[in-house]
Amino acid sequence: MSKRLDTDDRRRYFIVGSVILEIVTPVFRQRLEKDYKSKGLGCLQDFINSKPVIHILFHLRHTNIKCCVDTTNCRNRRKLPLNYSQWDLLYTENPGPPKHHCHCLYTTNNVKLDDLDITLASLILLNCCNLTSNEETLIKELREFKNNYLSHNTKGAITEKEYQTLWNDLMTRVLQLDPSKQDDFIRIQNRPLDDSLCNKYFVCLLDIHKKLEEISDKLSSTADILTAMNINNDQSNVELFTKLEVGTNTEHIFMCCHQLNQ
Ligand SMILES: *[C@@H]1O[C@H](CO)[C@@H](O)[C@H](O)[C@H]1NC(C)=O
Ligand SMILES: *[C@@H]1O[C@H](CO)[C@@H](O)[C@H](O)[C@H]1NC(C)=O
Repeated sequence: MSKRLDTDDRRRYFIVGSVILEIVTPVFRQRLEKDYKSKGLGCLQDFINSKPVIHILFHLRHTNIKCCVDTTNCRNRRKLPLNYSQWDLLYTENPGPPKHHCHCLYTTNNVKLDDLDITLASLILLNCCNLTSNEETLIKELREFKNNYLSHNTKGAITEKEYQTLWNDLMTRVLQLDPSKQDDFIRIQNRPLDDSLCNKYFVCLLDIHKKLEEISDKLSSTADILTAMNINNDQSNVELFTKLEVGTNTEHIFMCCHQLNQ
């Protein structure tokens, strides 16, 4: 592949990634804000702390548990859609010996809308908010979109052919949720490739944990590898990942997604 083509593929990835991080994620956050304001709640923390919401989210993370305060609406799921880091971002376990295995053990963190990435924002929207069925479909499709084109895209490139179909789909869906974003699409589409920003977006959008699991399946056990390399936090997982899989082109790759979202 020629250098020129490479750059174009990369620029298309940058454009689509920018739309997800700079347009779709804020639209999701704004929709969430609209929902809790309509319920008379002043901030995200109050919403996350409200009884129905903590109850729903608790059962998205914990299995086989009946709550002490609300046994009738308890659900027991096989698959837990909320992962540990998402739960830990929202809630902290109270100190002291636990009396109940229930959401009453947890207090809500001082969490802000900007702390939520697209995945967590969509999980909360789809499970805890009053959406129209059209909104629900659009949010699911946009989340899928990110998974299909970016989360597993280890090349950080999108071909012309792929881009031609996905661009219109992406834009139509977003504009149905928020028609005021038209100008942002034009601005982003005309933007030249910014390599360092592109690398940051790449790390943000790639599902590092999924990738690490795949890699560790190929090698022996993750635990052994991580212990051997003395690696035990997310930041270092990024380093491990880049060592194993990406190799080159990683000058700015150590930026944490969290900082980006601020
Ligand atoms: C949990 O989900 C977030 C998306 O909100 C993702 O970035 C993160 O990698 C996931 N963590 C694990 C341990 O799977
Ligand atoms: C909004 O959602 C809550 C919780 O999901 C539900 O209890 C309530 O009935 C819904 N309200 C409307 C108007 O749909």
